[in-house]
Amino acid sequence: MEQPSWTPCAPGVWTIRHGSPDAVTLLKAAGTRPQHEALQRLGTPLLPAPCPEARLRTVGQRTVVTLSKRLEEALFGLGLNFKQLGINQTVRDLHVDHYSGQDNGRTHAPVPFYLSDAGYGVLVDCARYLNVNAGGAHPVADPPPECDRLEPGWEAVRPGRTVEFSTTAEAFDLYLFAGASLREVVQRFNLFCGGGCLPPKWGLGFWYRVPIRFTDSDARTLVAEFAARDFPLDVLGLEPGWHSQSYPCTYEWHAQRFPDPAAFVAELKAQGIHLNLWENACVSPASATGRALAAGGLCGDYAAGWGGLIPDLSLPEARRIWGENHRSRHLAIGVDGYKLDECDGFDQWVWPDHATFPSGLDGEQARQLYGVWFQRFTDGLFRAAGRRTYGLVRGSNAGAQRFAYAIYNDHYDHRDFITALCAGSLCGVLWTPEARASDNADDWLRRLQTTCCSPLALLNAWASDTQLWSFPEVMEEVREILQLRLRLLPYLYSAFARYRFEGLPPFRAMLLEPGFADPAAGSAAAPGVLDGTKNPYSLAARREVKDQYMMGDAILVAPLFAGETQRRIVFPAGTWHDFHTGAEVTGGPVVTWTPADRRIPLFVKAGAIIPLLPPVNNLTRAGATRQTLEIRHYGNAPGRFTLYDDDGESFAYETDGGRRVELKAWRDATTGQWRHAPDDATLRDALPAYAGAVWHPAWQAP
Ligand code: GAL
Repeated sequence: MEQPSWTPCAPGVWTIRHGSPDAVTLLKAAGTRPQHEALQRLGTPLLPAPCPEARLRTVGQRTVVTLSKRLEEALFGLGLNFKQLGINQTVRDLHVDHYSGQDNGRTHAPVPFYLSDAGYGVLVDCARYLNVNAGGAHPVADPPPECDRLEPGWEAVRPGRTVEFSTTAEAFDLYLFAGASLREVVQRFNLFCGGGCLPPKWGLGFWYRVPIRFTDSDARTLVAEFAARDFPLDVLGLEPGWHSQSYPCTYEWHAQRFPDPAAFVAELKAQGIHLNLWENACVSPASATGRALAAGGLCGDYAAGWGGLIPDLSLPEARRIWGENHRSRHLAIGVDGYKLDECDGFDQWVWPDHATFPSGLDGEQARQLYGVWFQRFTDGLFRAAGRRTYGLVRGSNAGAQRFAYAIYNDHYDHRDFITALCAGSLCGVLWTPEARASDNADDWLRRLQTTCCSPLALLNAWASDTQLWSFPEVMEEVREILQLRLRLLPYLYSAFARYRFEGLPPFRAMLLEPGFADPAAGSAAAPGVLDGTKNPYSLAARREVKDQYMMGDAILVAPLFAGETQRRIVFPAGTWHDFHTGAEVTGGPVVTWTPADRRIPLFVKAGAIIPLLPPVNNLTRAGATRQTLEIRHYGNAPGRFTLYDDDGESFAYETDGGRRVELKAWRDATTGQWRHAPDDATLRDALPAYAGAVWHPAWQAP
C-alpha cells in the first residue's frame, strides 16, 4: 500500500504521479498546457481541508486508487451523463462509447473527473478504462453507519467514506483541484486543461445538416429556400454523401454529386455560409490517403465494422499524410470544419480492445483517446491556416476543452439532452441537443428552442429531411427563436470568452450558479415507497435540478417539453425577470411557471444587461458592417456586463487578449433617472464591430 502525498503543480492544483512519466495519458494526448496566469488570477487556495487522502495498491492486474471523502459529501461529474448529475453511491465503467440509455460510464465523454461539494475536484488522468465506485464501496475495516431497513434514512447502498478507481493502467496522474465553490473548481479544472474554446463568431449562428443523398444543386436550392422563407443560416453541414465513398471513407469529393466543390464552397461563402464536412476515421484502403497510410505502416491492425483503415493519429507521419488530403481538398477551397463521427463506438463498429497500433498503443487506449486525437488533429489543420474552426464530435475525454467541438449523438430524448447539457459543464465538454425530426409541431418547436439555447444550434436532417418550416403551425415561433439565437451573438460570444480566458463554461448546470439552492435537493425521489412490481430500492436517483440551466451569466433557460403548458423552475437567490416581457417573477425561489405564449421560458437576473444584435439572418453578413446594438437592462437594479469582442475568426486574440468594454447601467443619485455607459463614441472606439447602442433601461416589452 502506497500513501503518496499531493505535490503542488499549479495555483490551487496538486498532483500525484504513478508509474512512468513517459506513458500516454489523456492530458498528454490532448497536448494540454495549463493556463498559469489565468490560474493565478483565479486565486491560490490552500489544500482543501479535510483533503482527500490517496492510497494506491495492486490487486492482481489492477491498480486500485482509494480517495477518502466524508460520508455527507455530495459528488458530481464523471463525464457526459444523460440521467443524473449526482454520482453518490454509483458504480461506473468509464469507457468511451455511444450512450446506451443508462448512466453506467459508457458515454461519449467519460471524463474521469468528479467534483465534491466539500470544495475540490479530482481528475484521474488515465488513458485506459477505469472502474469507479463513487462512495458505495465499504471495506470491512471501515464500515458505513448501519441503518434499519424500516427507518426513513435507509438507502439500498449506504454512503461510504471513499471514492475508488481501479484500472489495468501502469501509469496515470492524479490531480486535485481546490475551490471555494463547485464553480471555481470547474474553472480551475478547465484552465488547467488549457482553457475553454472560443469558436469563430459564425459558429454561434444556425447550423443545418443536409440529408445524406444531397447534391450541390439540392444544397443550393435549400439555401435559396432558407433565404426566401427568411430563416437564418450560417453553417451548412454535408453528411456522408459528399465523399466519393463513405464507410469506409475516401475524403475525396463525389464526382457527380459535387462536380465542382471549389465553386460550390465559394458560392456559399459569398452568401456568408460556412461549410462543414462529415467524416469518420475509417479510411478506404483504395483511396489515395488510404494507400499512403498503408504504405507507411501507419494504421492499426484491425478495421472498423464496415472495413477501412484506422490511422494512428498519435504518429506525426499519419497526421501529415491525412492532413495533406484535408488541406488540399477541403481547407484550401474554404471548408471551415468537420463533424468527427463514430470515434466513440459502438463496440461492434470500432476496433477491438486487443487491436494494436504502430505507436505501440493498443485498442483500449485508442478507444479512450481517438476523439481527442481527432479533435487535436483537425484543430491543428485550421490553426496552421490561421482560421478558427467549430465542429461536431461524437467522442471526447479530459483535456479537450480548448478544441472547439460540440458532442452530439443518435439518442433522441429531449429531457436527457438537457441533462447532458448540464453534465457537460461539469466535465469540460460542450453538448448540442440537436433537433432531427418530430412527429408533432409541439415537439418540433420545443426541440428547436432548446438547440437554439445551446452551445451549437443545429438541425441535423441527415435522415429525415424535416425542415424548419415542416410544421406551419409553429413556423413563426421557430423563426423567432432562430433569430433570437443570432441576436444573442454579442452576449454568447462574451460568455465563450469567459470560457476561454477564465474557464467558466458558457452553458452550465444550476449547481454552478452562485445563490442557487433547491430546497428538495438530495432527497430521495420516492422516499419510503415500496413498489413490488418495480425495483423496491430507492437507489441513487436523488432529486436534483437537471432540466434547466444557465446560458451565459444572466439568462436562465427553462425549456418546455412537448405536451407541457407549465413547469417547475428553481431560481437562484435574487429578483428575476421574464426575458421576453421584462415582468418580475414573483413567488420564488420555486415557481410553477405557466407561460402566456409558446416562447421558451427564459429569465434574467435583475440588473442584467443583455446586448443584442438587430434582427439578422446570417452572422457573417451582419459582421461585414458595424451594427448598432440593442442593449436591454432588466429590472430595478444597477448592472454591468463585460462585452468581449475580437475579429471573430483568427487567433490574434491569443496574443492580444481581445477587446473588452464594460456596459453599465445605474440610477443617477440626484435625478433618479437611469444612466448608462459607455457612450457611442467610446463603444465604437473600443469595439470596431459596433456603431453604437440603443439602450433600454428597466426594459419592458412594448
Ligand atoms: C451517425 C451520426 C449521424 C449521421 C450519420 C450518417 O453515426 O450520428 O448524425 O451523421 O451517422 O451516416
